[in-house]
Amino acid sequence: AGLDAAGGQPAAAPAAPPKAAEPLTIVYASESGNSEALAGNVAKLARKQGFKPKVMDFSDLDVATLPKAGKLIAIAATWGEGEPPARAVRAYGELMGEGAPRIDGVDFAVLALGDTSYVEFCAIGKALDARFEALGGKRAAERADLDLDFEKPAADWIKNTLKALAPAETPDNVVAVDFARAAPGEDDEAEPSREPLVVEVVEHVNLNSSRSDKETIHLALAFEDGAPAYEPGDSLEIFPENDPQLVDEILTAAGLSGDEALRKALLAERDITTLSAATIERFVKATGHADAQKLIDSGEVRAWIEGRHLIDLLATFPATLTPEHLTTITRPLPPRAYSIASSRKEVGDEVHLAIVAVRYETHGRARSGVASVHVADRIRDGAKLRVRLKPNRHFRLPQDPAADIIMVGPGTGVAPFRAFVQERRAIEAPGRSWLFFGDRHFLHDFLYQLEWQEALEEGALTKIDVAFSRDQPEKVYVQDRITHNAKELVSWLEGGAYFYVCGDAKNMAKDVRAAVVRAYETAKGLNPADAEAQVAALERSHRYQQDVY
Ligand code: 2AM
Repeated sequence: AGLDAAGGQPAAAPAAPPKAAEPLTIVYASESGNSEALAGNVAKLARKQGFKPKVMDFSDLDVATLPKAGKLIAIAATWGEGEPPARAVRAYGELMGEGAPRIDGVDFAVLALGDTSYVEFCAIGKALDARFEALGGKRAAERADLDLDFEKPAADWIKNTLKALAPAETPDNVVAVDFARAAPGEDDEAEPSREPLVVEVVEHVNLNSSRSDKETIHLALAFEDGAPAYEPGDSLEIFPENDPQLVDEILTAAGLSGDEALRKALLAERDITTLSAATIERFVKATGHADAQKLIDSGEVRAWIEGRHLIDLLATFPATLTPEHLTTITRPLPPRAYSIASSRKEVGDEVHLAIVAVRYETHGRARSGVASVHVADRIRDGAKLRVRLKPNRHFRLPQDPAADIIMVGPGTGVAPFRAFVQERRAIEAPGRSWLFFGDRHFLHDFLYQLEWQEALEEGALTKIDVAFSRDQPEKVYVQDRITHNAKELVSWLEGGAYFYVCGDAKNMAKDVRAAVVRAYETAKGLNPADAEAQVAALERSHRYQQDVY
């Protein structure tokens, strides 16, 4: 009906009178920025299709407004052991709690992001999807649960979901025509920065002393055609290569050694370390391995994969595989993101990173972090790396250079604060800066010690408090230094200071937040609830920012 019989051209679309735009609320719960980027993609495509999209971070979401959301798309990442991203905690809690409003009549769809190497894969997206339905919403499209290689399936999901959410009175074929038109346009606008850039390593030094039990690589990378326009707070993704020795072990275990093409693919393209229940299921499907099937039937898979990798699966359940098997049971090798440790105003066309080599042992086998050990062991001056900029607009210096900043960054969490201090020195920011740093030993692990001293002398850094956890019998952490300085810290915050935390999400960031709440209690004599409200207010006004992993 929408086609012009004579020319086969779409007649309805250009001729149709302009419709009132359909309101579409897109909320995202993002930690590393992937959900946020996808929310932006949804809005872009939705606008072209006649929606009136509104994109909102969970941290800015007032759940009482959800009944008036119109159409609703939620994109939610799951973090660590099944937790919501830090900025989403408040609104997520309200939505799951008894005070959540009914959303009868709201058409919704949920896109869940996660990582299959964690047990609670996509838990937050699943919970939101069920919750919207329980609150009376109508599911307009099935949820998708996506792993780290989400880009292509997410694009498909977005396309199909917008189609499902399009106003019912629009004839199907007209929508189809609109989609056909929108799609090439989207491709044309694909941001060039999504393509990896090749950089040269111009500096590769261990920041720890040789007697440290840690190895933190300071990496300076040079961009041949100029560094991308990064800001302090942004991250850089590295496309790593796997450990060649592990690749050979896997090839041998699978009876495939000598296959050069496959070896190359496993080195650079497949994730050969992590192991998920889904991997084991695909393995059984490919091989029909009876003992591996027994493991699945026993219901012990989750416990078994704890601390184990693909090589353990192949060693425990020997099977001869084809190259196709190995490709289908593994997922693509994802890039790893590191907080940028430099300001362009100081380093020009370079980007600096601080990367701690991850090495540990489980089940009698030495394990290593893919990207960090690639950088530590197999990359040297002059080597090339593929990288991609990952912006983070939720971790930003204050607009006002006169505002004070407080930075908490133990270990490599200090990286973005090197960028902050460089930037504020370059622009001669009048605001004060206070750094909390912690690591194991003063003598061996004081990352960038000389630079902090210089910055203190020059005034780019006002104050530094350090916590070396293993230099005395009892542990001392950055949060202990916060507690010790409670009065002064609260006075900075009450004077408008911004507070930044970078580093470990699982324990440190939570302990630091709790210490700031306690600081309000002791400094102001507040009860715990009122002190908590102070910190929540800081978060809501984006004066408490986190970059945690
Ligand atoms: P530890 O390893 O001696 O326990 C950087 O890794 C520093 O962070 C180390 O000094 C480490 O101490 C410390 N750290 C470990 N757990 C922490 C936590 N929950 N809060 C703050 N710092 C922590």
